[in-house]
Amino acid sequence: MAKEKLEDLEWTNLGFKYRDLPYSFQAVYKDGVWQEGGLTEDSTIVLSEAAQVLHYGQEVFEGLKAYRWKDGSLHLFRPEENAARLRRSAERMSMAPYPEDKFVEACKEVVKANADFVPPYGSGGTLYLRPFLIGSEPIVGVDAAQEYIFRIYATPVGAYINGLHPAAYMVSAYDRAAHAGTGRAKTSGNYAASLYPHELAKKLGYADALYLDPREHKYVDEFGGANFFGITKEGNFVTPKSVSVLPSITKKSLLVVAQDLGLNPQEVRIPFDEVDDLVEAGAMGTAAVISPVGSLTYNDEKHVFYSETEAGPITTKLYETLTGIQNGDLPDTHNWTVPV
Ligand code: PLP
Ligand code: COI
Repeated sequence: MAKEKLEDLEWTNLGFKYRDLPYSFQAVYKDGVWQEGGLTEDSTIVLSEAAQVLHYGQEVFEGLKAYRWKDGSLHLFRPEENAARLRRSAERMSMAPYPEDKFVEACKEVVKANADFVPPYGSGGTLYLRPFLIGSEPIVGVDAAQEYIFRIYATPVGAYINGLHPAAYMVSAYDRAAHAGTGRAKTSGNYAASLYPHELAKKLGYADALYLDPREHKYVDEFGGANFFGITKEGNFVTPKSVSVLPSITKKSLLVVAQDLGLNPQEVRIPFDEVDDLVEAGAMGTAAVISPVGSLTYNDEKHVFYSETEAGPITTKLYETLTGIQNGDLPDTHNWTVPV
């Protein structure tokens, strides 16, 4: 694959796709230690045919964005949270965690090295970073690897779903993760399990699948690539309390933003039977940002939230506040943004 040319990029129409940028970061774990990592121009990885990740799935990853502010400076959003989650995911998958301070430094290095590819302020685009960790040791029996590769690639992106336009979702009869499984870890197997329900949803004209809790299929869990939130009739921000959803950094931030906005945020179990009590609903995540849920269809019954064509006022306010902080247009009172 050829390297991306800067002059070929249309900043306001990037979509959400991989582009091969000049630099990635790589570090290798061998003999019980992480060797010093560094930038590489090689965007390929050479692996043994018996590498652990290819057969038994030791892979964990992250997603975070770099933003170009009005004055041209570049900032990451809460990268230390991604570092900590990668460590927790790695522990769940019995992998050697990558040191958290080195994770943040490596993210900065990748942004600096690819700085020309951070979309301009006001374009709606960002530089998406994908740090990931794989078990690279050749292994035949089922076991954890003793060798790992940590890597970060960067790619400029626009909207993942529909931006602030509502999207329609269907409730899946499948699970993406088990009750006491790996849902809290950001690991490839959860996404592999979501592909079939995702394709099914797409075929039927929906943006994605919403999963219910895997034990009872009674409570709202999350989407394939984003957490769920709702606004109650009383104007409260609610989001599912569940052991099988990914602890989203966007959610963690919006719980604070909602508090600041007087929306009495709560993490609670949300019975699907009661979703009609929500006056607005949305998907939240790094890629999704805040994406309004126009409707949820379950067993041929469609539940509409606020409007199928327009974002609700509270969803809009949350979006403007969060993206305002991320883009440097609003005061960062919680010290979430990190200059590169
Ligand atoms: N849930 C799933 C399954 C995801 O893949 C993501 C994306 O990272 C999220 C939630 C949102 O997490 P975050 O806000 O940390 O990006
Ligand atoms: C992210 O939001 O960073 C994700 O990893 C979601 C992914 C499904 C694109």
